[in-house]
Amino acid sequence: MSQENAKIFPPFKSEPEKPLSEVQKEILRLKKQKRAVILAHNYVAEDIQQVADFAGDSLALARKAKQADADVIVFCGVHFMAETAKILNPSKTVVLPDISAGCSLADSCPPDELAKLKAQHPGAIVISYINCSAAVKTLSDIICTSGNALEIVKKIPEDKQIIFCPDKNLGSWINEKLGRNMILWDGSCYAHEEYNAKDILEMKEHFGAPAVCHPECPKAVRDVCDEVCSTEKMISWSKSCKSDKIIVATVVEMLHRLRREVPEKTFIAAKLPGKNCQQCKFMKLNTAEKLLECLKTLKPQIDLDERTIALAAKPIEKMLELS
Ligand code: 13P
Ligand code: SF4
Repeated sequence: MSQENAKIFPPFKSEPEKPLSEVQKEILRLKKQKRAVILAHNYVAEDIQQVADFAGDSLALARKAKQADADVIVFCGVHFMAETAKILNPSKTVVLPDISAGCSLADSCPPDELAKLKAQHPGAIVISYINCSAAVKTLSDIICTSGNALEIVKKIPEDKQIIFCPDKNLGSWINEKLGRNMILWDGSCYAHEEYNAKDILEMKEHFGAPAVCHPECPKAVRDVCDEVCSTEKMISWSKSCKSDKIIVATVVEMLHRLRREVPEKTFIAAKLPGKNCQQCKFMKLNTAEKLLECLKTLKPQIDLDERTIALAAKPIEKMLELS
């Protein structure tokens, strides 16, 4: 690669495996003492993934949270994920390192607005992407994640009208793949919306490599990618992919897991206009220092009333039953 191109497309490198820091050691000590389990989304920093009991996508994390028999679940991810853990396992104390770790998708769908849309389509069922608030879950019939969305929508009779919220990109991907005509909420992930098809095509040509993206990317980006899937499926797809180099269009921290689990391949973070790779500003609020503090104080906690838990659990349980 020329010097110039190397500057434009720096290959992604995780930090070489370093000895555990004092903060990480203290996290592991307190985790044992407090009988806590640390669940981390694939998008959090590598030093947190290293001390987590489990790192995965939203679906795998929801399953782990439901099964957790620890006293405390420390959820390193964003608020709606920690809420889902509390809904699925309400007797546990659920904490997250930064209570302000939100999500642009969850924020795009206020429950009262969704209630109005539902009232306009009384015969429709509501399928909501897990990236939504507990209040929106209480208004939904089924929850899905990017890992099981196709499987779930496929099970709904074709003549049944569906309201899909809040991600219009994931929704339009499902409509395309299944030939459906779901009513789509106008929400999106600010981080995946920033990818650009022209840059990805340029990288594919430059590296002679296929590209994989998350279904939260806009259609033009999905159309130039070789595979569209959830963060977890990126691992199995990469293992079976013939190429030894793969371009990845999702939050860059995903590349830590890809490099750990598929070490024989080279992963290259897809660049975006004006920057070399994408991070999620909400996931980034999780730091090892805040994780340590939250283990010490068991704060901030997720607190939901019993009625919300009971109503929101139904569509999540339905998802777990269907996928
Ligand atoms: P996954 O369920 O694929 O991990 O996606 C979660 C998410 O927030 C993607 O932006
Ligand atoms: Fe939400 Fe996007 Fe961040 Fe995922 S990457 S948590 S969808 S803002």
